[in-house]
Amino acid sequence: MFPELRMRRLRSGKIRDMIKENSLTVDDLIYPMFVDENINSETPIASMPGINRFPIDKVVGDAKEAADLGISALILFGIPEHKDQHGSCAWGEHDIVQRAVREIKNELGKDMYVITDVCLCEYTDHGHCGVIDSENEEIMNDPTLPLLGKTALSHAKAGADMVAPSGMMDGMIGAIRSELDANNFKDIPIMSYAAKYSSAYYGPFRDAADSGCSFGDRSTHQMDPANSDESIREVELDVFEGADILMVKPALSYLDVIYRIKNEFKMPTAAYNVSGEYAMIKAAAQNGWLDEKKVMHESLLSMKRAGADMILTYFAKDMARMLK
Ligand code: PBG
Ligand code: ZN
Repeated sequence: MFPELRMRRLRSGKIRDMIKENSLTVDDLIYPMFVDENINSETPIASMPGINRFPIDKVVGDAKEAADLGISALILFGIPEHKDQHGSCAWGEHDIVQRAVREIKNELGKDMYVITDVCLCEYTDHGHCGVIDSENEEIMNDPTLPLLGKTALSHAKAGADMVAPSGMMDGMIGAIRSELDANNFKDIPIMSYAAKYSSAYYGPFRDAADSGCSFGDRSTHQMDPANSDESIREVELDVFEGADILMVKPALSYLDVIYRIKNEFKMPTAAYNVSGEYAMIKAAAQNGWLDEKKVMHESLLSMKRAGADMILTYFAKDMARMLK
């Protein structure tokens, strides 16, 4: 007890660093990228300062910039020229994400691990993550599954290293796993958006990916922010269906969920530091209200401390620069 015991003894000088329990390295970072079929030059996203949508011929340049900063993984989101009821531009061989994957892998090969987001909301004209029963405006779970399987398979065929289904449909991991396995992609891992909450923090992303809903919302399939035990059940199902990596999303308001899931399952766990979390820090920093670099580092480090092994973050390049 005090005064014999003094916690301050280890808090300054070299020893402070030596007792550090957690750290952030460039290997923890996954860089999200938007590739847009509708534009000819890179286009800033107003609510996400520093993040752009890229036309197909600029995608490789940006991926290379990330690689040069030491970032080893990225996740791709596509914005198609054509949207329809079923999201049919999500799975074509020559659609936007498939082309971007091929170009990045051709150029960077093993230097960049390419992950693809698998969902339909960027590709449907109504903006929902699955097929709609238009009579009662309901998202139909089971008819959506084969479309997700087909989409994931097309990403793998294009050369994606890993697929990341984000739609929170029941059975989606199993459906994708069997589609990949049946087509000789047994070694392509699945990162499941396993505990994805129905969150207002996705606002800026929906502008960025042009994926807002024309009616209703995603609360019929995404989780209620009030729930924590339920995330264990969600994740357990995904583990049984074959998920290799478990993601919690968003991150900052859900550090308790990251902690629980890491401890319960002892599996590789990812945190998605989402668009709204990024926008809040950027906006406060632009006003001179926060020290951007310090708050960025502290936020990302808190996700590691909670148990995340990797972090999907729009800060990836900024953070990598800071770590250099
Ligand atoms: C699409 C998807 C979303 C995000 C990642 N994949 C949006 C959503 O569910 O509406 C959010 C990412 C972010 O906010 O940064 N299913
Ligand atoms: Zn979606």
